Amino acid sequence: MTAAPLPPQAVTVRAPAKVNLELRVGPRRPDGYHDLATVFQTMSLYDEVSVTRWDEWEVIASGPHAALFPDPMDNLVVRAAKLLAEHFDLEDTPLSFRIDKSIPVAGGMAGGSADAAAALVAVDHLFELGLDRSELDSFAAQLGADVPFALAGGTAMGTGRGDRLAPVLSRGTYHWVLAFSDVGLSTPDVFAELDRLREDRDGPDGAIDVPVPEVSAELMTALRSGDPAAVGASLGNDLQEAAFSLRPELREVHAAGLEFGALGAVVSGSGPTIAFLTADVESAMDLSVSLAASDVCRDVSRAKGPVHGAQIIAGPSAGTA
Ligand code: C5P
Repeated sequence: MTAAPLPPQAVTVRAPAKVNLELRVGPRRPDGYHDLATVFQTMSLYDEVSVTRWDEWEVIASGPHAALFPDPMDNLVVRAAKLLAEHFDLEDTPLSFRIDKSIPVAGGMAGGSADAAAALVAVDHLFELGLDRSELDSFAAQLGADVPFALAGGTAMGTGRGDRLAPVLSRGTYHWVLAFSDVGLSTPDVFAELDRLREDRDGPDGAIDVPVPEVSAELMTALRSGDPAAVGASLGNDLQEAAFSLRPELREVHAAGLEFGALGAVVSGSGPTIAFLTADVESAMDLSVSLAASDVCRDVSRAKGPVHGAQIIAGPSAGTA
């Protein structure tokens, strides 16, 4: 289907993917969630979300990681718009969202959260609501744990469900190579697999207590120093073994990147994307060529981080927002 072109009043916002440099997961809570301690960074891999008034609700995706969104009402961008519409008692105008997806769907890079953050910023601009950052943050937190960070960008520590943010001092720019998988992984499945592996290890009552999650001092020191080799050596993710257990072939991708010279490798979030840290742009280019030419992974991309959170890139008086 070819989508009708959007009118010039459409607002376009781009929002970045994130990678978790470290992700520590506490025990399963009674509500089914897990407390997290994480350090994440946004990177220059973006979804672009365009929104305009329309005659019906629609969500249309295009781009290298386009997904089929059969029911627009289920989509986080529509939920973001409805949240603002209800709160501000806006007229019931349907909206069209066009999402140019470069962030893989169910890839562990918070693509859906990036889209939600972009939708908040875009709808705020479209309806001239004039929300400040803290107002946007509070709507973002209602939409999902990773949405506030997609708004903020940079490098941050997240605690609680990952939604309580504190900035992290990070020097320099980091050059990443990303290995994508053809099929995504379900976040609840990966958390459940982690619980299962822990039970296998510790017994059903968790004989060995899972410690309160904390990020390592080594990673904080490495980020302050801006030394990619030290950061590479400090990457870690408690969900990685669970992702490998569900997708054994990911182990090979992880090992191949390290063999080809990455300074460090980590499954991003709940996977299956694997992020490799390299020393500089040239090393990132070399690694992406080697990985793409190997048997283990064909879909490879490069990105640098940290980058800004969600930003308006086109629309009426975009530069002044
Ligand atoms: O945050 P989101 O709704 O995407 O999480 C999906 C599922 O992942 C949750 O229902 C839960 O099973 C698991 N999860 C978790 N602990 C977290 C975040 C997610 O157990 N901190």
